[in-house]
Amino acid sequence: MSNLMVMAVSSARPLAAATARRALPVTAGFRVKMASQRGQHILPGAPRQPHCRAPSRRLSAHRGALRFTPEGWEEHMPTMSGLDETARAIVADGKGILAADETVSTITKRLTARAIESTAERRRAYREMLFSTPDLAAFIGGVILQDETIRQDSSTGIPLIELLAGRGIIPGIKVDAGVHPLAGAPGEFVAEGLDGLRGRLEEYRELGARFAKWRAVFIIRDDGLPTAKCIHANAHALARYAALCQEQGLVPIVEPEVLMEGAHALERCEDVTGRVLQAVFNELFDARVSLEGMLLKPNMITPGQGRAGQASVQEVAEATLRALTRHVPPAVPGVVFLSGGQDPVLATQHLNAINALDGPKPWKLSFSYGRALQDEALEVWRGRREHVLAAQQAFHHRAWCDSAAALGRYSGDMEGEAGFAHPDSTLHAPH
Ligand code: 13P
Repeated sequence: MSNLMVMAVSSARPLAAATARRALPVTAGFRVKMASQRGQHILPGAPRQPHCRAPSRRLSAHRGALRFTPEGWEEHMPTMSGLDETARAIVADGKGILAADETVSTITKRLTARAIESTAERRRAYREMLFSTPDLAAFIGGVILQDETIRQDSSTGIPLIELLAGRGIIPGIKVDAGVHPLAGAPGEFVAEGLDGLRGRLEEYRELGARFAKWRAVFIIRDDGLPTAKCIHANAHALARYAALCQEQGLVPIVEPEVLMEGAHALERCEDVTGRVLQAVFNELFDARVSLEGMLLKPNMITPGQGRAGQASVQEVAEATLRALTRHVPPAVPGVVFLSGGQDPVLATQHLNAINALDGPKPWKLSFSYGRALQDEALEVWRGRREHVLAAQQAFHHRAWCDSAAALGRYSGDMEGEAGFAHPDSTLHAPH
């Protein structure tokens, strides 16, 4: 065994709740521990002590591939038992992710824009309204929480995270500390939050989270943005985050978002997104992140929001699939798009059109929408208890449509249907 590190498969740590233990499809987590760990910071995925000869053991799906280096054979790109299973469960047929991980300041902006006072209790009630929507688990495989929400209880005293887990929905957590100006790169940002991340991931896993999210942003501007420096800095941070997540038994959602702000053409978005994705996967490879145990959360390829003459749904779908085909390895089990400020119906149409395209699609192509899933429900809810049922209906309806789009089975006729009207077997039945 290496004197650099000892990989120990521990039994799953006690979860916050028995319900979570029952409901989560996560098997044993794994931990990487230094033999002389005290006070040192190990690099997740760092190579084992190289062997002089290739080990004779057979490689299996849960063993990494071997590569020869000047120092000898080493394991790289390991696949990690349990993480791939969780990643696949989140994007099981017709399922996607509800991104409910707005920071307190972001959700406060969305609430106050609708004249709803943003108190901790209001934010809790809003999230409880979403999470307790009937039949949600038919459409939603995972929910991304943020630090405040993961510690809050439902009105009946159940932790919100247990409410989700008990319904068969896998809870996740946003772990980046937001984007901050990147030194030496005017107008650009880097996502921060790596310091102390190992400990925070450990705590979130104890609380019941089974996946995490880190969002980096890239701005397109005529004067050469994003720069190579910004792309590299964010891709590197995403890879360090992803390796730490896998070390702590959490599936990383890797979110490089090329923002829709600007008046650029679709082709420019495709070029920038391609460069960003390529840089991200190069860094993930170097960081020895298991692609089978992660999910990618990219933007779709669209023209800038401010561009006169938008692209057709078909053009967006074709450009998006082309970018993924060129830059995303097939080992990644799922690509879950962000909505990025798209109108909810258009986000549904785009996802459906991508799934309806001919040609190889080796990943599940689904959604991890924030605004596009929530906006209609938030508009109806407006902070009023008597609106909860109607808001849940609106949310259920959009989730139902997005679920259909993730299967390429959405049609415009569905927009006229009422929420709760559909036993979901209609969607999941074979053609
Ligand atoms: P939107 O779908 O509103 O872009 O949010 C997704 C998300 O998680 C942003 O980080």
